[in-house]
Amino acid sequence: MHQVYLDHNATTPVLPEVLEVMLRYYREDFGNPSSVHRYGRRARVAIDDTRDCVADMLGAPASTIFFSSGGTEANNTILQGVAAGLKERGRHLVTSQIEHPAVLDTCAYLAHQGYTVTYVPVDEHGVVDPEAVREALTDETILVSVMSANNETGVLQPIAEIARLVHQRGILMHTDAVQAFGKMPLRVDELGVDFLSFSGHKLYAPKGIGGWYARPGVPLHPLLHGGHQERGMRAGTEPVAGIAAFGKACAIAMSDMRQEWERQQQLQQQQGQQRDQQQRQLQQNQQRQQSIQNQQRQQQSNLQQRQQQDAQRQAQQQQQQQRQLQQNQGIQNQQRQQQEQQRQQQNNLQQRQQQDAQRQAQQQQQQQRQQQSNLQRQQQDTQRQAQQQQQQQQRQIQQSQQREQQQQQRQVQQQPRQQVQQQQRQQAQPRQEQQRTAPVERPQGEDHHPRQR
Ligand SMILES: Cc1ncc(COP(=O)(O)O)c(C=O)c1O
Repeated sequence: MHQVYLDHNATTPVLPEVLEVMLRYYREDFGNPSSVHRYGRRARVAIDDTRDCVADMLGAPASTIFFSSGGTEANNTILQGVAAGLKERGRHLVTSQIEHPAVLDTCAYLAHQGYTVTYVPVDEHGVVDPEAVREALTDETILVSVMSANNETGVLQPIAEIARLVHQRGILMHTDAVQAFGKMPLRVDELGVDFLSFSGHKLYAPKGIGGWYARPGVPLHPLLHGGHQERGMRAGTEPVAGIAAFGKACAIAMSDMRQEWERQQQLQQQQGQQRDQQQRQLQQNQQRQQSIQNQQRQQQSNLQQRQQQDAQRQAQQQQQQQRQLQQNQGIQNQQRQQQEQQRQQQNNLQQRQQQDAQRQAQQQQQQQRQQQSNLQRQQQDTQRQAQQQQQQQQRQIQQSQQREQQQQQRQVQQQPRQQVQQQQRQQAQPRQEQQRTAPVERPQGEDHHPRQR
């Protein structure tokens, strides 16, 4: 499988020609540069050549360049060395929140030793604001350390601007340039820094070699004590092979740098143009979105208005219908009332009719009773009259009989028996008449009782 390595900020592979140089100082020129013999002198030359090369890259005198085991040792030496050298002047350091642990942890160590450290934040672009640094400075501040390029984002920091502000307060300025050294032109006079750290394995040299730049005359206490290597600033026999390889890598970086830097500049310009284009595109999209949103809002409000109007219309229709309904109900109620009244009237009428009928019936009954009683009275009168007539007739008859008898008696006394017989026939005659004039007994029945209805 073909592998692609894309983490050159972490470290770079050693270039073959760099490795060649290294091998030479392991195999042939392996002498100690402190030795005065040929082996030693050849090793010394290799170290001086590299120092010259680095000094050339930084635009600084060779005497200002010191070698170390790498960027970490360089940062430690500068931070702790300045802290120790200026501890009588002040015990405050300023750095940024995005520094490499080689700086942050050293600051933490110093804080543990009684120093105070201010950590300046970065803005949304990952950039340290020089004004924020200036505001963090106090009379106690002895050193400001801000990296040149960030190891994660690659963002370049405004070192020259920060250094200018820091120097206005007479404070020393350090930049950790491990990620920038060999990749972009770095000139200490342009940057205006007092210290600068670099490391070999970021530019195709081996790991374990680095160093720092220190402006002549700055107070710096060494970290390591022992021999007088690096003019007493870093004790220990120099790693000659590494230094020589670093020199070779610096030479290659130098020759490529102009071209590489121009390429990077072009890339940056292209990126900038792309960014501008993207921003324009973004703005256009935002404007388009805005107008779409406005249209949607307008449509929504139109829709809402229409819905409200519909709802109002519906409500009005419902009210109308309800009114209609109420009117209908009123009419129905009236009709019901009328029906009720009619029913009532009918009932009343019926009642009245019944009452009338009853009354009539009662009256008829009354009349019938009256008639009956009249009839009875008439009958009784008739009977009484008949009786009276009978009695009268009887009385008359009796009277006439009595008179006849008296007469007869008188005749008897006066006349013969024939006359007596004639008298007896005369007596028989009124009895027959009486039978003829006696009232006829009518059968009790229909004439006396009116027909029932
Ligand atoms: C910004 C920065 N400073 C310091 C260092 C430490 O350098 P060295 O690995 O040489 O100790 C690194 C390493 O990645 C770095 O990126």
